[in-house]
Amino acid sequence: MTINWTPDSWRSKNIRQVPVYSDQDALAAAEEQLRTSPPLVFAGEARRLREALADVSAGRAFLLQGGDCAESFAEFHPDNIRDTFRLLLQMAVVLTFAASRPVVKVGRLAGQFAKPRSEATETKNGVELPSYRGDSVNSIEFSRLARDPNPERMVRGYNQSAATLNLLRALSQGGYADLKQIHRWTLGFLDNSPAGDRYGDLASRIGEALAFMEACGLTSKTTPQLRETEFYTSHEALLPNYEEAMTRIDSTTGNWYDTSAHLLWIGDRTRDPDEAHIEFLRGVANPLGCKAGPTQDGDGLLRVIDTLNPENIPGKITVITRMGNDKVEDKLPALIRSIEREGRQVVWSCDPMHGNTIKSANGFKTRPFDRVRDEVERCFDVHRAEGTYLGGIHLELTGQNVTECVGGAQAITEASLADRYHTHCDPRLNADQSLELAFLIAETLKRERDDRDVGSSQVATG
Ligand code: PEP
Ligand code: CO
Repeated sequence: MTINWTPDSWRSKNIRQVPVYSDQDALAAAEEQLRTSPPLVFAGEARRLREALADVSAGRAFLLQGGDCAESFAEFHPDNIRDTFRLLLQMAVVLTFAASRPVVKVGRLAGQFAKPRSEATETKNGVELPSYRGDSVNSIEFSRLARDPNPERMVRGYNQSAATLNLLRALSQGGYADLKQIHRWTLGFLDNSPAGDRYGDLASRIGEALAFMEACGLTSKTTPQLRETEFYTSHEALLPNYEEAMTRIDSTTGNWYDTSAHLLWIGDRTRDPDEAHIEFLRGVANPLGCKAGPTQDGDGLLRVIDTLNPENIPGKITVITRMGNDKVEDKLPALIRSIEREGRQVVWSCDPMHGNTIKSANGFKTRPFDRVRDEVERCFDVHRAEGTYLGGIHLELTGQNVTECVGGAQAITEASLADRYHTHCDPRLNADQSLELAFLIAETLKRERDDRDVGSSQVATG
């Protein structure tokens, strides 16, 4: 058990980025309702994820984490959940093949309802209102009543998370995740995409591998691993009232687990080790993510990690760097060196989204695909130079055909952003852009694997 920690010890600390509720009785009632509601995930599942992430930190697996910037009540629909799930599986197949390593799949799903904001208020036509902070807090609609934080929204977020997770469990275990079928979908994407020519070769080698396995008798009928998959959930633990109410003691180990998701992460704006968000997370046994942007430094990151994981348990911490493509070489090496020098075991993951947000000339918040791709490539390069393993990627994406990020093989222009711009917060990669990025990463992983193979055969023969 963590020293001097209780699920509510965060309450005595300084806190940022949380709503101020005007009705304290309504807040207490919502917390009570959550406290008596069933857990969304089980401690054993969170432990399995931690073990899988320990494999990532040891270079034996790769982490794919992705989903909406913010889930919303309005976009709650089984097709949306299915399409994002399917996209993540398609990306995972491409990455698994290229890396020859298992891919740990973690959705930003079933609980990603609260957002930190750069500005506390928003002004439109001279009217100033509190910023939208995610559907678990207030409504995106621009009116005083809608923007007033309402604690009942946390209960609605919980209920939507439960229904989402129920569908995700069915999709991952009920036959939908059949490897052959997933590959067929990817071939369909390549047929219709300008990226098809470039990646056709990799795709046909995956097809050949599947045909070979089938000829050897490994089919989805004979081998459950080909039709089922492990899929985990995650969100930013921004609302400690919600997370505290979902935190329970695991009867097997006696440890506290936050049962709202398998993995919780801490945002770049709330990562001060002396403040409430870290205080809460340091007491739960779930695997944790911590974002690190350009204002984080080596000592600061080390303090965060040592507060959250004093026993240096492998797989417990994923450091998600989000520098912006042009700052990677300048900022990332110092973080890596400080962590590696002290022998801390972490998963290094790259979020190429949050440092690359710009405003288009026609007023949309967007992200250029080229900058996203560039940050990923530069992260791979820096880790290679430092002798560390970039083990994961963290993306904001959707299975829908939205037009929110410019560029990619489809060449979405600023003028076409207005066509299907649906996000409630940050711009997401659409299905085509996400798969294209997966193929690009796959090429890099394959190159690294080939280099390693050459290196080890040289050692063996030389
Ligand atoms: C996010 O992941 O949606 C987010 C707000 O990220 P960051 O904390 O890195 O800005
Ligand atoms: Co975001």
